[in-house]
Amino acid sequence: MRVVWVTDVHLNFVEVERMKAFADAIMRERPDRIFVTGDTAEAHDVEKCFDLMRAIAPCHGVLGNHDYYGSSIAALRDRARRTGWWLPHEPVRLTEATMLVGVDGWGDGRCGNLESRVLLSDWKEIAELDGLLFCESAQRCAKLQAVGAAEADALRIQLATLEPTRELIVLTHVPPFPEACWYQGKQSSPDWLPWFTCVAVGEVLLAHARAHPAMTITVLCGHTHGTGEYRPVENLVVRTGGWPPGVQSYGNPIVQDAWAIL
Ligand SMILES: [Fe+2]
Ligand SMILES: [Fe+2]
Repeated sequence: MRVVWVTDVHLNFVEVERMKAFADAIMRERPDRIFVTGDTAEAHDVEKCFDLMRAIAPCHGVLGNHDYYGSSIAALRDRARRTGWWLPHEPVRLTEATMLVGVDGWGDGRCGNLESRVLLSDWKEIAELDGLLFCESAQRCAKLQAVGAAEADALRIQLATLEPTRELIVLTHVPPFPEACWYQGKQSSPDWLPWFTCVAVGEVLLAHARAHPAMTITVLCGHTHGTGEYRPVENLVVRTGGWPPGVQSYGNPIVQDAWAIL
């Protein structure tokens, strides 16, 4: 099975010609499946943008924070549950040796500088997070920690129902470890880490990897727009998709990788 991975394509910012070049780049890889790790567009057009990719091959994806812009987490998830491509339902068997799970993940205010003055548009664009722009850091982090904990629970439930498998691929939007938050070739600064890492999901992944040493777990994520790899333990690797240092990401959707799954 041949797969293509894309992330953070933010198609709502992309010109028609560039969109066509992006579709051509995916088609050149002749994928059987397309993996999408979030920030595809915004709430009003995310399904339409997925439909463009689904016209090429079946998609499996998660939603990123930007996908929720202009709506609420609850409302968009209600819609996503009906699509067939949104992963947080139940594990998907890709091949005899490989299973796929996914969870959106959320920057959960649990690492880096929790007093950070970096502010996100999430906190005015997403209904459940409204008000977080103008509150105390502790209150903001408490709310985000609750969102992150719910993501970890969703992943834990999927892993509990997982059939025995040699290879596990996990799609998520937010890097699950601070060491996997790449930006311009380096780890993101402490001021960005609270919003760039889902520590709670990382804990679930690490526990699962340690409990199943014969299983190889590959996590694909995005969100930081910088590319890199981090291996916290031998059988768990996190690949963060993005653009090389100095290369424009917004308006420049690319294929992160294409490979064959056995
Ligand atoms: Fe993004
Ligand atoms: Fe994002």
